[in-house]
Amino acid sequence: MRKTRRHHRRRPRPAEPSGGNDAVRIRPARPADLDALVALERHAFTTDHLSRRQYRRHLGSASAAVLAAVAARRLLGKAVVFFRRGSAIARLYSIAVRADARGRGVGEALLTAAERCARARGCRTMRLEVRQDNAGAIRLYERLGYRRFGAIAGFYEDGADAWRYEKRLGGW
Ligand SMILES: CC(C)(COP(=O)(O)OP(=O)(O)OC[C@H]1O[C@@H](n2cnc3c(N)ncnc32)[C@H](O)[C@@H]1OP(=O)(O)O)[C@@H](O)C(=O)NCCC(=O)NCCS
Repeated sequence: MRKTRRHHRRRPRPAEPSGGNDAVRIRPARPADLDALVALERHAFTTDHLSRRQYRRHLGSASAAVLAAVAARRLLGKAVVFFRRGSAIARLYSIAVRADARGRGVGEALLTAAERCARARGCRTMRLEVRQDNAGAIRLYERLGYRRFGAIAGFYEDGADAWRYEKRLGGW
């Protein structure tokens, strides 16, 4: 098991994606975001897409939170968190940022907001799976204090293996 790296940065870097100076805001996604959410899903992932129907269901579900990162009314990123009744473990199901907005702290801001949202619902732990070949995402998770605790062979539709990560959420 690798040691979790400590945070080396407390706040997201100022995000200025798309060449503009518009501040990035994280807010709950709404039905009007559906087209952009589905487009981002296609843009960011080659397999294991969430469909429009699934997004619509999650937007109205008490057991899911869909967060949107927006700047100048444009969707730059999204995170999907699942909750289970009676469970103190939340699951980060999906996180993605538009390619032209990456590396500027939008992913970190989304993940931090997802954790805050989980904490507000009484969850003490966030868990997630990540492709073992997804170095960028793994770096983000480890930087934010996630610890690898397992693996799942053939987890993804294309047969790729996953690492399992978890983080104890503070504030308790
Ligand atoms: C993983 C992802 C959400 C991170 O979003 P992000 O906005 O780039 O995140 P941040 O800017 O907060 O941090 C990204 C980290 O990854 C690095 N990184 C990843 N992709 C990058 C890119 N295309 N350009 C620049 N940096 C990138 C950054 O250097 C940074 O690490 P560092 O601060 O230690 O140097 C984004 O790369 C993405 O959408 N990837 C495709 C979808 C995906 O793989 N999702 C995760 C599924 S488990």
